Amino acid sequence: MVLTIRPVAAALFLIFFSALLLDRAQAGSGHYYPPVTDKLTQDECGSCHMAFPAALLPARSWQRIMGGLADHFGDDASLDPAATAHITRYLTDNAADGAGSRHARKLMRGIDQANPPLRITELPKWVSEHREISPREWKSKDVGSKANCTACHVDASKGYFEDD
Ligand code: HEC
Ligand code: HEC
Repeated sequence: MVLTIRPVAAALFLIFFSALLLDRAQAGSGHYYPPVTDKLTQDECGSCHMAFPAALLPARSWQRIMGGLADHFGDDASLDPAATAHITRYLTDNAADGAGSRHARKLMRGIDQANPPLRITELPKWVSEHREISPREWKSKDVGSKANCTACHVDASKGYFEDD
């Protein structure tokens, strides 16, 4: 009897703890920001750079970005009004202060709520997480820009931003 119960108990123990660890990794550590699941947002906002997860910015930042697509960091990224409205709704619903909040708490620390940055790469917590990266690394041909998350975070498109 003892011989059969032990492996079962051990297996249950393992399942329980891996589920717990996975949940912690996804919820609290600052590693996991759910990838964009909306097809239009993925298509229209993922052609020049990765489609940044909505939980990486608060709703007010997304509203300002979506309100200024004709001059989008020097590019014209404008869309027709229906697509703009659809994507704005998706990004604000899932923003760092919306449905994405449980993932984003850490990254939102220290932001000016009334006037949050337009860039993820200007969030105070983002800056401090990347403070050890030298100007030369940012400019290297493999990286090129701070916004090129996927150069360093190989699983960014799956939502994982750990140190690879
Ligand atoms: C025509 C190309 C193009 C399209 C389409 C585009 N972007 Fe961008 N985006 C850029 C460029 C260029 C930058 C600046 C990148 C840099 O600094 O290296 C940028 C930067 C950003 C940043 C700031 C990244 C940072 O530095 O933190 C966000 C957020 C962003 N885009 C969101 C969007 C959203 C949302 C959409 C879809 C509505 C979109 N982009 C579509 C070209 C584009
Ligand atoms: C040049 C490489 C590089 C680029 C580009 C880069 N990162 Fe990072 N990032 C790192 C490194 C290295 C760390 C780990 C810092 C540490 O653990 O001390 C990190 C840490 C992070 C963390 C914190 C993870 C944690 O442990 O809590 C987040 C979130 C993150 N990056 C998001 C992004 C996003 C979003 C982008 C693009 C807008 C980006 N990074 C671009 C290298 C990069």
